[in-house]
Amino acid sequence: MSGLEGVVVADTELSMVDGANGELVVRGMPVRALAARARLEDAMALLWHGDLSRSEVLRAELGAARVRVREALGTWRHLPDAVATMRAALAPLEGATPVELVAAAGEVLVGWSATEAGRASLDPDPDAWHADDLVRRLNGEARPALARALGAYLCTVADHGMNASTFTARVVASTGSDDTSAVVAAIGALKGPLHGGAPGPVLDMLDAVGTPERAEAWVEAELAAGRRIMGIGHRVYKVRDPRVAVLEDAIADLVRAGEAKDQLALASAVEKAAVAALERRKPGRGLAANVEFATAVLLDAVGLDRRAFTAAFAAGRVVGWLAHVAEQRREGRLIRPQSNYVGPR
Ligand code: COA
Repeated sequence: MSGLEGVVVADTELSMVDGANGELVVRGMPVRALAARARLEDAMALLWHGDLSRSEVLRAELGAARVRVREALGTWRHLPDAVATMRAALAPLEGATPVELVAAAGEVLVGWSATEAGRASLDPDPDAWHADDLVRRLNGEARPALARALGAYLCTVADHGMNASTFTARVVASTGSDDTSAVVAAIGALKGPLHGGAPGPVLDMLDAVGTPERAEAWVEAELAAGRRIMGIGHRVYKVRDPRVAVLEDAIADLVRAGEAKDQLALASAVEKAAVAALERRKPGRGLAANVEFATAVLLDAVGLDRRAFTAAFAAGRVVGWLAHVAEQRREGRLIRPQSNYVGPR
């Protein structure tokens, strides 16, 4: 069984991915409804406690943790890729609580971006909602429309069934290891281009295509060269990833507010060309746009460098990882599958 396709490895109350119908439910809530709340604290309240009334308390805890963790992180090694920086920076946080790990992911995202832009990182505001505080510090001033878009994004990606990084986190937790180790391992899994590493290359692709009329020829040339089209295809979804439409709506809000350039027409032309070309080559496979497709456009609009896109993904998904880690601990059983030895005896 290559790739464990279709293998069920756990019961979970956290999220349901319906690949045939293109549906994502997060602890009883359609992803669109969660994204509309646009606050990561709501995703934490829902995934960690199954109780949205905990959001305000989590806002205070997360705000205090941002201040504390900034101290604890000290100065970290700045690597060219933000997610690699995040992995290295979080690793020494022995004994960090789940709230501190969520805070730390945000701090590295902001700190990395400030260093890249050659400016000092602004101090966290402990009273702000997480997405508002990140956007203020990423842009040097409060930008409510951008904060809403980032909040919607973080909620949209907070959890997604038994994806590769979540499985990684659960394997680590199942050995009795700690939260920090599970998160650091999960970041390593997220980093790969087949999982969370795709949105930066999606933006490169949109830049390379340039105008909607060039989409078809560009896609054909890529496929002829044997390359995959980033942001297209998914292990579970055989229809369009439902998160794409949620993020597209958030982007459309930004465009209406005059906060983002309208890349939706270009993205849509590339998507159409890629889907049609892949359907011709792999009929019936259902290769369609995945979340990274719209992620690229949204995070670009929010003002993030494309080398920080996967780190932004981690800043949201860390909430899901930690929910799964807790669920795995309750399960209390070591994950230890078998392999089929085919080497010489
Ligand atoms: N571009 C071109 N061909 C693609 C493709 C893409 N984006 N996605 C899948 N295919 C092809 C594969 O080459 C494969 O062809 P083959 O059977 O001749 O080898 C076929 O479609 C089925 O793909 P498969 O590799 O079995 O799918 P998977 O479930 O292992 O992979 C992804 C899923 C996401 C890894 C894959 O679609 C992909 O690489 N997408 C691009 C990267 C990306 O967007 N990642 C973010 C995921 S959220």
